[in-house]
Amino acid sequence: MRVLLLGGRGRLGGAIAARLAPPPAGVQVELLAPARHELALEPHAPDDAAARWFAQWRPDVVVNCIALGDVDQCETEPALAMQLNAALPAALARACERKGTRLIHFSTDFVFDGALRRPYREDDAPRPLSAYGESKLAGERAIARTACPHWIFRVSWLYGAPVRNLAADLLDPANAARIFRLATDRFGVPNPVQLLAAEVASCIARGRASGDSPPASGTFHLSCHGATTWHAFALAFVREAIGAGRLAGERAPRIEAIEEASLGRPARRPAWSALDPSRYEHTFGRTMPGWEEAIQFAL
Ligand SMILES: NC(=O)c1ccc[n+]([C@@H]2O[C@H](COP(=O)([O-])OP(=O)(O)OC[C@H]3O[C@@H](n4cnc5c(N)ncnc54)[C@H](OP(=O)(O)O)[C@@H]3O)[C@@H](O)[C@H]2O)c1
Repeated sequence: MRVLLLGGRGRLGGAIAARLAPPPAGVQVELLAPARHELALEPHAPDDAAARWFAQWRPDVVVNCIALGDVDQCETEPALAMQLNAALPAALARACERKGTRLIHFSTDFVFDGALRRPYREDDAPRPLSAYGESKLAGERAIARTACPHWIFRVSWLYGAPVRNLAADLLDPANAARIFRLATDRFGVPNPVQLLAAEVASCIARGRASGDSPPASGTFHLSCHGATTWHAFALAFVREAIGAGRLAGERAPRIEAIEEASLGRPARRPAWSALDPSRYEHTFGRTMPGWEEAIQFAL
């Protein structure tokens, strides 16, 4: 099975690449993870790019981790956000539809406004507060309008990649003397990329298993259980990292509480955006851990 991984140098994409090469026992995967320069994506011409990629790599499965994921950048560059987060997945879905190729795509908890104050289910009404959320929702809807076999996994609050995430910053010896000021009034679910990558690998295997029809196309909340704040997560992560010998107690950075509004960021974020993974668990026959238990996957 030829798996074309797009965005394989990103946080989640990097973890998926590591998980699939070498492939887990019993999964026959040829991983194709072209670098950005090999993709040569012109954001304004996604159909050309998709056609070229399909001709060059002839994938059986496309895993799309390309995104403009910087929420504040999306607010200041909404056209680019729409190109990468909506038009590109739409073009991939059209190409997948033509070839009967499965598309695995990722979306976000930021499609919700946070007003419900309980973990969101897939059929809860989305109402994005930001250009990022708008563009990701447009991408989901464009894929769903095609007949390509697809799984859209909404994920939230990623950590565990080597760089560009809170856990990596907390572990970085260069930050030993730094004070981390983190919000106590915004709730969501932190998810280690290693765990999500293992789940994606198992879904890919499931999609090709003989004698077992793969779950139907749809949107699924791929997330740990529970809800917390970045402040409470950081305290728990540092405690676990010290326990696991990944961080010396005397070198642990200081963590202070602040309110989200004091950060003065361009994009609005939902104040409560935990995702309920029940449909994913039920459909794919998996069990997701609580967010605290899952910290071990990143240590
Ligand atoms: N991070 C989070 O907390 C979070 C939360 C919810 C949902 N998500 C979703 O999860 C998915 C993965 O997110 P992530 O945080 O892993 O993303 P990421 O680290 O920002 O990675 C994005 C990838 O897209 C690639 N890319 C961006 N622009 C490109 C272009 N013009 N041409 C080619 N490649 C381009 C990047 O390439 P380079 O490596 O070369 O830059 C990178 O590999 C996304 O769909 C995101 O919306 C993320």
